Amino acid sequence: MENKNVAIYLTGGIACYKAVNVVREFVKAKANVKVAMTASAQKMITPLTLAALSQNPVYTDFEMPGQTDFVPHISLADWSDLAVVVPASANIIAKMANGLADDFVSTALLATAAPKFVIPAMNDKMLSNPATSRNIAVLKDDGVKIMEPAYGFLAEGYDGKGRMPQPEEIFSWISQQMAVKQDLKGLKVVVSAAGTIEKIDPVRYLTNFSSGKMGYALAEVAKRRGAEVVLVSGPSNLQVPVGIKYHAIKNTTQMQNIMQAEFVDADIAIMAAAVSDYRVKEPATEKIKKDTPTLTLELVKNPDILKKLGQQKKSQFLVGFAAETQDVLANGGKKLIAKNLDMLVANDVARTDIGFGTKDNEVTLLTPKRQPKPLPKASKRQIAEWIFDEIIALRQERGEKLSNAMPK
Ligand code: PMT
Repeated sequence: MENKNVAIYLTGGIACYKAVNVVREFVKAKANVKVAMTASAQKMITPLTLAALSQNPVYTDFEMPGQTDFVPHISLADWSDLAVVVPASANIIAKMANGLADDFVSTALLATAAPKFVIPAMNDKMLSNPATSRNIAVLKDDGVKIMEPAYGFLAEGYDGKGRMPQPEEIFSWISQQMAVKQDLKGLKVVVSAAGTIEKIDPVRYLTNFSSGKMGYALAEVAKRRGAEVVLVSGPSNLQVPVGIKYHAIKNTTQMQNIMQAEFVDADIAIMAAAVSDYRVKEPATEKIKKDTPTLTLELVKNPDILKKLGQQKKSQFLVGFAAETQDVLANGGKKLIAKNLDMLVANDVARTDIGFGTKDNEVTLLTPKRQPKPLPKASKRQIAEWIFDEIIALRQERGEKLSNAMPK
């Protein structure tokens, strides 16, 4: 934590008295700490205590005596490398989940791009209220890290879940979360995502239900773990992860051309895209009129991009996905062999809770020499983490360097 800029936000809750020691933990670890408090937090402990401990003025409102900064919430938001909300009341959790900004703390939290760590502490009934559970789920989905509240003696005088964990536990949990693995550093990872589209006429096309979520999660995780990432994507509404090379393509031929060019010096290539297997033989140049009761399109088979990469493969680690609706493992296993892959990720797209367009997935990893490895249902981001863990283990097993940090 040395030299990290840490913004600590205190919100209303009796656990504010323990948050004082969270501030101390960060100061002891030589972080630069600035504290902001809601009006309710200021009723629990004084800003003076936290100013003394953090060695910085405490933000209590947009305008404070002696303040020279005209937009203090943005200054704090931009300054911070991480934002810690401790204790986090049900109210601030609800505001964060819904993007509300009606005081200094909620406005700065909305404005900051820093990773956010939320430590809920509240009455057990408030914690288990469906509204709070929903808001926590929304925040988790948005990538906010939420620490599990402890079970124990609550301020109300009885035992329950909702207690704030000890300050040392909070500090060590945040430190662990911040220690991002850099195990893909120096490696070039090429990922394809979303569906390709094939034109029927100037206004219509053929495609599939892929949203790009699985492929974008893979690209994002690879980037965070230090890789040089190339994302080749069909049309998608998702935000492009920052710091990667991005190719926006439309049809299969365009995806094939870019995948082949990027594959040459790749270390790892993953085809998560749902490629249109067929294209219209001769797309109409004018809009097709609706004056016939039926319409017949002649389709021709598209090239199999992955199979071609499998034939060209040298030392690259090549991963395919299989979108199956029946005999998932048997059909996936056939694709693993036929396309000369190092790993195949099989998913059951007949299910509505995983696969196309969903936030979660549940997959089985198939490899030529090992037993199939089923992974539990989890967010696509978590699945992406596990896929890379497995790729790294397999590359290590076959004696390849963990990263190209050493000369190639
Ligand atoms: O994008 P999401 O909404 O998050 O959905 C994720 C997903 C379901 C699309 C993804 O998890 C997935 O399964 N992607 C592969 C979809 C697919 O095309 O499967 P397939 O079994 O038809 O093809 C097998 C493999 O060959 C795939 O890696 C595919 O990219 C590749 N392929 C297929 C056909 C083709 N002409 N060229 C190819 O390269």
